[in-house]
Amino acid sequence: MIRIAVLAGDGIGPEIVNEALKVLDVLRSEGLEVQTEAAPVGGAAVDLTGDPLPEATLALCRASHAILFGAIGGPQYDVLPREQRPERGLLRLRKQLDLFANLRPAQVFPQLAAASALKAEVVAGLDILIIRELTGDIYFGEPRGIRIDHGERVGFNTMIYSESEIRRVAHVGFQSAMRRNRRLCSIDKMNVLESTQLWRDVVTEVHAEYPDVALSHMLVDNAAMQLVRNPRQFDVMLTGNIFGDILSDEASMLTGSIGMLPSASLNSAGQGMYEPIHGSAPDIAGKGIANPLAQILSLAMLFRHSVDRADLAARIETAVERTLEAGLRTADIALPGEAVVSTSQMGDAVARALVQGHA
Ligand code: IPM
Ligand code: MG
Repeated sequence: MIRIAVLAGDGIGPEIVNEALKVLDVLRSEGLEVQTEAAPVGGAAVDLTGDPLPEATLALCRASHAILFGAIGGPQYDVLPREQRPERGLLRLRKQLDLFANLRPAQVFPQLAAASALKAEVVAGLDILIIRELTGDIYFGEPRGIRIDHGERVGFNTMIYSESEIRRVAHVGFQSAMRRNRRLCSIDKMNVLESTQLWRDVVTEVHAEYPDVALSHMLVDNAAMQLVRNPRQFDVMLTGNIFGDILSDEASMLTGSIGMLPSASLNSAGQGMYEPIHGSAPDIAGKGIANPLAQILSLAMLFRHSVDRADLAARIETAVERTLEAGLRTADIALPGEAVVSTSQMGDAVARALVQGHA
């Protein structure tokens, strides 16, 4: 029995998670043994309990094979003390479950090449996998804070990586590259930052175990530029936490819509959390217009990485492609003048394509 914790969260989270559950229901009706249990997280959990990651939610996640995560956050929570903000719940969940390897694929569906912010010929066929370290770096480094120094406020954070933290995510990077086109580009800022000099040194050491992978290194500022200049030069990009946060948002726009991109966050036990890389989009929440495809594709990643059912992952991905092929578009991926469908129409269509794909 596959146990999935469902953490829909805030904003458009519940709407798009609902569509992913329709897809899951199709598989269940075919006999897949899967058990889902919902729990509050983020602002929804703050409203209920005062804590963005209640103990019971964390316990459910620990006891599950995988977590299907929607999105968290909303402007009403920005006034809360930092510890109670929805984002802190997400960061604690990543840290508590040791989800150190964040896989963020950026793929251009051929049907959507024209929706990219870049020219279709620059992005056609684009297929990048960003592997972002997710539990270290300046996100979690101590000391941190805002203090008074010589009568003025000083804000400070600590950018820090240990050798072992770099090594384990580097292995994930090289292993992913082995399953793809065997090219790994490691991102750092070694010309200025010591912690990223160590990053480069350790990645280079780990490379010795993967002679079949071509390793290159790139400074993060150059990488940001190369992503828009010639994005197809990349296969796998390996980054620390903060650089990956920034570059993955940039890469998402190459694909036409941030509403298309799933992600997986894995620990060394194969447990994983699966979430769209877009946020809770409070401005469109409750309107039934959000694109559920990133959430549905996150479910596909769940089957591939946490339950060893790559066959089901591929079926879901094919169903999404067929649905795009049939011309269905939510507002975010429609070209001017194209007809748009609602969140639930898109989810229903993918569920139908999944059934038909099986027949
Ligand atoms: C992401 C988000 C998060 C991050 C926020 C919501 C804390 O931007 O998953 O990329 O910075 O990691
Ligand atoms: Mg981000």
